[in-house]
Amino acid sequence: MPCPPPSDELVFFVNGRKVIERNVDPEGTLLTFLRKNLRLTGTKYACGGGGCGACTVMVSKNDPVSKKHFSVTACLVPICSLYGTAVTTVEGIGSIKTRIHPVQERIAKCHGTQCGFCTPGMVMSMYTLLRNHPQPSEEQLMEALGGNLCRCSGYRPILESGRTFCMDSDGCQQKRTGQCCLDQEESASSTPGRRNEISTKLFSKEEFQPLDPTQELIFPPELLRMTENPEKRTLSFYGERVTWISPGTLKDLLQLKVKHPEAPLILGNTSLGPTVKSQGQFHPILLSPARIPELSVVTKTSEGLTIGAGCSLAQMKDILAERISELPEEKTQTYQALLKQLQSLAGQQIRNMASLGGHIVSRHCYSDLNPVLAVGNAALNLVSAEGTRQIPLNEHFLAGLESTDLKPEEILESVYIPHSRKGEFVSAFRQAQCQQNALPHVNASMRVLFKEGTDSVEDLSIAYGGVGTTTVCAQKSCQQLLGRRWNELMLDEACRLLLDEVSLPGSALGGRVEFKRTLVVSFLFKFYLEVLQELKKLAKLLSVPDSRRYPDISDRFLSAIKDFSVTTPRGVQTYQSVDSCQPLRDPVGHPIMHLSGLKHATGEAMFCDDIPVVDRELFMVLVTSSRAHAKIISIELSEALELPGVVDVITAEDIPGTNGAEDDRFLAVDEVLCVGQIICAVVAETDIQAKRATEKVKITYEDLEPVIFTIQDAIKHNSFLCPEKKLEKGNVEEAFEKVDQTVEEVHVGGQEHFYMETQRVLVIPKTEDKELDIFVSTQDPTHVQKTVSATLNIPINRITCHVKRVGGGFGGKVGRPAALGAIAAVGAVKTGHPIRLVLDREDDMLITGGRHPLFGKYKVGFMNNGRIKALDVECYINGGCTLDDSEMVTEFLILKLENAYKIRNLRFRGRACRTNLPSNTAFRGFGFPQGTLVTESCITAVAARCGLLPEKIREKNMYKTVDKTIYKQAFSPEPLIRCWNECLDKSSFHSRRTQVDEFNKKNYWKKKGIAVVPMKFSVGFAATSYHQAAALVHIYTDGSVLVTHGGNELGQGIHTKMLQVASRELKIPMSYMHICETSTAAVPNTIATAASIGADVNGRAVQNACQILLKRLEPIIKKNPEGTWEDWIEAAFEQRISLSATGYFRGYKAFMDWDKGEGDPFPYYVYGAACSEVEIDCLTGAHKKIRTDIVMDACCSLNPAIDIGQIEGSFIQGMGLYTTEELKYSPEGILYSRSPNEYKIPTITDVPEEFNVSLLPSSQTPLTIYSSKGLGESGMFLGSSVFFAIADAVASVRRERDIAEDFTVQSPATPEWVRMACADQFTEMIPRDDPKTFKPWSIPIA
Ligand SMILES: Cc1cc2nc3c(=O)[nH]c(=O)nc-3n(C[C@H](O)[C@H](O)[C@H](O)COP(=O)(O)OP(=O)(O)OC[C@H]3O[C@@H](n4cnc5c(N)ncnc54)[C@H](O)[C@@H]3O)c2cc1C
Ligand code: FES
Ligand code: FES
Repeated sequence: MPCPPPSDELVFFVNGRKVIERNVDPEGTLLTFLRKNLRLTGTKYACGGGGCGACTVMVSKNDPVSKKHFSVTACLVPICSLYGTAVTTVEGIGSIKTRIHPVQERIAKCHGTQCGFCTPGMVMSMYTLLRNHPQPSEEQLMEALGGNLCRCSGYRPILESGRTFCMDSDGCQQKRTGQCCLDQEESASSTPGRRNEISTKLFSKEEFQPLDPTQELIFPPELLRMTENPEKRTLSFYGERVTWISPGTLKDLLQLKVKHPEAPLILGNTSLGPTVKSQGQFHPILLSPARIPELSVVTKTSEGLTIGAGCSLAQMKDILAERISELPEEKTQTYQALLKQLQSLAGQQIRNMASLGGHIVSRHCYSDLNPVLAVGNAALNLVSAEGTRQIPLNEHFLAGLESTDLKPEEILESVYIPHSRKGEFVSAFRQAQCQQNALPHVNASMRVLFKEGTDSVEDLSIAYGGVGTTTVCAQKSCQQLLGRRWNELMLDEACRLLLDEVSLPGSALGGRVEFKRTLVVSFLFKFYLEVLQELKKLAKLLSVPDSRRYPDISDRFLSAIKDFSVTTPRGVQTYQSVDSCQPLRDPVGHPIMHLSGLKHATGEAMFCDDIPVVDRELFMVLVTSSRAHAKIISIELSEALELPGVVDVITAEDIPGTNGAEDDRFLAVDEVLCVGQIICAVVAETDIQAKRATEKVKITYEDLEPVIFTIQDAIKHNSFLCPEKKLEKGNVEEAFEKVDQTVEEVHVGGQEHFYMETQRVLVIPKTEDKELDIFVSTQDPTHVQKTVSATLNIPINRITCHVKRVGGGFGGKVGRPAALGAIAAVGAVKTGHPIRLVLDREDDMLITGGRHPLFGKYKVGFMNNGRIKALDVECYINGGCTLDDSEMVTEFLILKLENAYKIRNLRFRGRACRTNLPSNTAFRGFGFPQGTLVTESCITAVAARCGLLPEKIREKNMYKTVDKTIYKQAFSPEPLIRCWNECLDKSSFHSRRTQVDEFNKKNYWKKKGIAVVPMKFSVGFAATSYHQAAALVHIYTDGSVLVTHGGNELGQGIHTKMLQVASRELKIPMSYMHICETSTAAVPNTIATAASIGADVNGRAVQNACQILLKRLEPIIKKNPEGTWEDWIEAAFEQRISLSATGYFRGYKAFMDWDKGEGDPFPYYVYGAACSEVEIDCLTGAHKKIRTDIVMDACCSLNPAIDIGQIEGSFIQGMGLYTTEELKYSPEGILYSRSPNEYKIPTITDVPEEFNVSLLPSSQTPLTIYSSKGLGESGMFLGSSVFFAIADAVASVRRERDIAEDFTVQSPATPEWVRMACADQFTEMIPRDDPKTFKPWSIPIA
C-alpha cells in the first residue's frame, strides 16, 4: 500500500490544553478521541447517532458572527473538524478533587442524578447555556436540555437544578401553584426533612455556591491569535482510508471540488455521519468548508434574506427571530413558518451542528425546512470554479432531477428566502411521535396568495414531508385550485385533489399509511381555518363591506388552529419528615444526595467501559442472524480472519462447557430462531476492526417453517413456551348468566429498556489457576459468575464478578449480561487476552429483547350500577424465541391482574407465546404494567356501557376492608383507599372533571381527558430463596468502615440507602463509610437486584452485620462511654475483637401453589394512585400532558429524595410505554426501531406541565426495614393514568360524533392511534387498502 503524504497538524484545545495531532484519522470522532486518546471518559457513548445527548461537550470558536460556545454531540463531531476550536468536557469544568462547578453541584444536590450515565451530557448542555446566558430564561433552559435523554429520573430534578440559575425563577417549584414552599417552610427548620411534619423540601438552596462566570476557563489566547490571523492554507489530514481536506479560501474549495467532484462537503456531519454508519457509506475524500467565511454570510435586503449555507440551524433560528422582529408581519410569513419548524427540529446540539446547506442538500424525506423553503419560493445560490448561478428550491430540485440539481463541482453558497407579500399566508405543520426532538411522521408547508382585496386564490403552494422518498410538492392540485374562492367547497375539492396527488401505497416505507393520508388533509384543514381566520381579521380591519362572505368559524372550531406550546414543568413533592425525636446524626428518612451524585456530575464516576484499557486487551463484536428461522448451512470465516487486526472468531465450537440451555444457546448451533440471535463473535485489536470483520463473516442459511412473529400466529400454531397459568375464584360461568356482559380485546405493545449505558463487559483472564476477573454492567453478578463457570467448565470460585455501578438496568441487565459475559469469557480464554465487549445501541436494541407485548381478551359481567360480578381474562404475551423469564412474567401477570379490585367471580389465564423474535425478558413491573392495563381497560369499558365515570366504577369495585386476594393472600387495603382519596382530593379531581367536560363542550377539535387509576403492586419475588441477602462490613483501624452487600447500584440509590442504614446502626456519620463495589468475592451467592426489594433485603443484611459489630463493641463502649468511635475501634483491635462481620437476612417467606391457585407469593404491597389530565389535538393525534398528581404509599421512606425520584422516573417510563414507545418490526421479523430517532422515550418536554408527587403520611409496615417500602417498579403502572386520560378525551370525541364509544384499546396511545380513533370527515375520505393487496412495511406483534 502506498504511504500517504504527511498530514498537517491538527491543532485544537481540550479543557484549556493544547492538542496537536500529527497522525489523526479523519474517520475518528471527537467522542472516540476523548475517551480513547485522552482518557476523558466523562463523556459517554449511548447511541452514537446524535440522538441522546449523553456525549454532549461544549465547542468554542472565535467566530465574530456566531455564538462563541455551543453544545455538540461528540459522537457525530469528526475529529478533523475541530481545527482551531476549544473543546470543554465535563472534566474541564470541575472535579471533586479540586473544585466542582455550580452546575455539577446543583444537579447532584437537587437529586438530578440516578444512574448518572446521562449526567455529564446534561451538565454540559446546561453549562454551555450558562456560558452564553449566565441568567437564562426557563424557555432557554428547556431548549438547552431538549436534546438530552434521561431514562431514570423523570427530568424534574434536573430541570429544577437548572432552574436555580434562571433569571425568572428563584428555584421555587410552586410559585405558579400559589403555595410557595418557602412560605410553607417558614415554620419548619431549614434542614430538609427535619421534624415530624409534611415537608416539600428535598434540598437546601442555601448550600449552593454562586455561579461566578469569571471563574470559567478562558478561550485559549493561542487560539485567539490563530483565529485573528486565520490560516488560509489548505490543510490535509490523511488517514488509512479517508483524507480530510480543509481549504482556507472559497477559491481553493471550488478547485478541490473540480478535482474531487464526488467528495461530499462535510459540515455538521449530522446527515453524513449517521448514513456512513448505518448504510456503510464510504467517502475516501471529505471536503470541509468550515473555514470559508463566505458560507456564513447573512444579507438582508428589502426583498428578502440570504443566509449562508454554512450557517447552523441554531444560527438560522436567531437570524429569523431577529428578522421577524424587524419587519412587518405580512413580510415574515415564511420566516415564521421556518422558525416554528426549527423550534421542534432535533435537539439543541443537532441544531448547533447541522448546517442549512447540509439540511437542504440532504433532501431527507422528513426534512422540516425544505417544504417551507419550497413553498416560500426560496432560491439556491450555487457557486463553482466556473462562476455562480441561482436555481429554485422547487419540486424538481427536491426530486433530485439532474438538470435542476447541483452539478458535482458546484456547492451551495447561500439560500435566498424572499419576504412574503401582502395577501400571502404561509404556515407549517408537523406531527411526530412526540412534540419535541422527534423526526416528523408527516410535515407540511402551505402558502396561499390572494388576489388583492379578495378571497380568490392567485397562487397556492403545498409541500409535504414524510410521504415519499423526498419532499413532495402538490403542484397539480395547487394549479387546479387557482382562482377558487377560499371556502368549504374549495377545501373539499382540495382534499380530494391532494389525496389523489400525494398518494401513498399501502406498503410505503415507514408505515402508518392511513394516518399519514389523514394528516395530509388534516393539515390542509388547519391551514384552511388559519387563513380564513386571517382573512376575516383583515376584512374586519379594513371594514370590507362583504366581510360576511367568509364562512363563520365558531369558537368551538377555532381550537383546530391552536398549537400546543412547550411549557416548563412545575410540581410539588411532599413527604413526611422524620420523627422529631430522631437523633440529628441519624440520616435515615432524610433526602440524602445519591452517594455518587457529585461524581456522576463531574464525570468521575466510573462505568464499566470507563475502565482504562488493560494490557493486551482485545475487542469483541457480535455477529447476529439476519434470518428469523433458518438452518445454518455454513459459517465462512476466512475473509474476516484475513482482515488487519482480526485475532479470532469465536463460535459455538470454542465453548469448553455448556453453551447455554438446549433451547437457548449463547452461540447458535445449526439453527437460528430469530433475527438478532448471536451466531459468533469477532475478536480484534480495535472495535472498528472487529466491526468491519463482522461484515465479512459469511453465513448461509436455509429458511425453515414455521416463522411466527405475532401472538395470533402463535395461538394458531399452538406455539407456547410454557404451560398455561391460571387462577380462579367463584363461579364465573354462573355469574355471567345473570348480568350484562361485554367482551373486548386489548393490545399492549412491548418496550425497549433503553438503559442509557448499553450492555458491556470486560473479562480479564489471570495467569494462574484459570482465574477470571469480570467487570460487568449487570443487576445479577452471581448469575454472570455461575454462567461463565458453566460455559468454561471451571469452578465458580475461580471467577470474580465486579459491578461498580450500572448505567440503568430496568430488568434488562438481569439475565442478558450472563450470556454476553460467557461469550466474552470464551474469547478471553481462547485468545489468552482480556476481552472488552460493548454493544452499540443498534445491536443492544436488536439482540437483548425487552418488555413482553401482550394481547388480552376479557369478558366482564356487570350490573347497571357498575358493580362487576364476573371477570374472565385471557392474556397472551409474546415471549420471543426462548423461555428466558417468560414463565415467571406470565405468573406475575396473572397474580397481579386483579389490581385494586374485589370481584367475586374471577378467572385469569395467561400464556407465553413462542415466536421467532428476540427473547423478551424482565422489565420494570414484570408483567404488571401490561396486564393491569387490561383490567383497567375493562373498568373503562364497563363505565362506558353504564354511562358512569370510570372512577365511579373503580371506587365501587375496589377492595375496601381486610380481605384476601384471588390467590387467598390476606391484606389490608386501607392505604390503597387513603391513596385513592388523597389523590382525588389533591388533584381536585371532581371539579376538574367538570372543567374538562366544559372545555370539551366548547371545543370541537381539541378535547381534554382526565383519569385516575389506583394501584396495588406486590413487591418481591414469589419465592422465599430469592428474598435472602448478605452483607460484609469491615471496620478498619482508623475507624473507617467498608460496607459491601449483595445489591447492585443501578441508579436507584441502593448504596446510599445502605450507608444510611449502617450509619443508623453503628451510630456514626455516613462520612466514615464507603462502598467500593459489588463483588462476588466479597458477598457470594447474591440474588438479582430486582423486584423492588433490593434495598429492603440488603438493608436487613447490612443492619444485621452492623448490629453484630456493635454488640462486639458494646463492652468497650460501656467501659469508655465518653470515648470516640476511633478510640473504641482502636481498643477493640487491641483486645483482638473481630472488626469484620457478615450480615445475613434469611428472607421473607413466599410461596405459590399453582395447582391449588393459592399462596402467599409476595411479602407486601405498595399502594398508590395517580390522576392525569391531557389535551388532545383531534386533527393530528398529538397530546399535551397538563397535570399529574401521584400519591404513593412509601410508608417510612429511607430516603424521600431517592424514593420520589424512583416514583417520578418510573412514572415517566410508564408514560413512555403507554404513549410513545413503539417497536416496529418488518414482516421478516427485523426490528426497525434501533435508535433514539426511531424509538421515542420521553424527553424533558414530555413531562406533565404540573407534576406533583406526595408520599402518603403516617403509614407503617412492620415487616420491612425501618418500615420502608420498595418503590423501584410500582410507579411504572401509574403512567397508565396518562393513557386513560387520552382514552377519556378520545371517548369524548367519539361520543360527540356519535361513534361507538367502546373501541379496541391499544397501547401505546400514539398520535397515530389517537388520530385514527377520532374519526371524522377526513379519516372517512382517505383511501383504505385491502390488506390482502399489499405487504405492509411493519407488522403488529401484540
Ligand atoms: C439526531 C438527529 C435528529 C434530527 N432531527 C431532525 C428533525 O427533526 N427534522 C429534520 O428536518 N431534520 C432532522 N435531522 C436532520 C438534520 O436536519 C440534517 O442532518 C442536517 O440539517 C444536515 O446538515 P449537516 O450540516 O449536518 O450536513 P452534513 O451531514 O455535513 O452533510 C450532508 C450532505 O450535504 C452536503 N452539503 C452540505 N453542505 C453543502 C453545501 N454547502 N453545498 C453542497 N452540498 C453540501 C454534503 O455533501 C452531504 O452530502 C436530525 C438529525 C439528527 C442527527
Ligand atoms: S452518544 Fe452521542 S448523542 Fe447519543
Ligand atoms: S440518571 Fe439519567 S439516564 Fe440514568
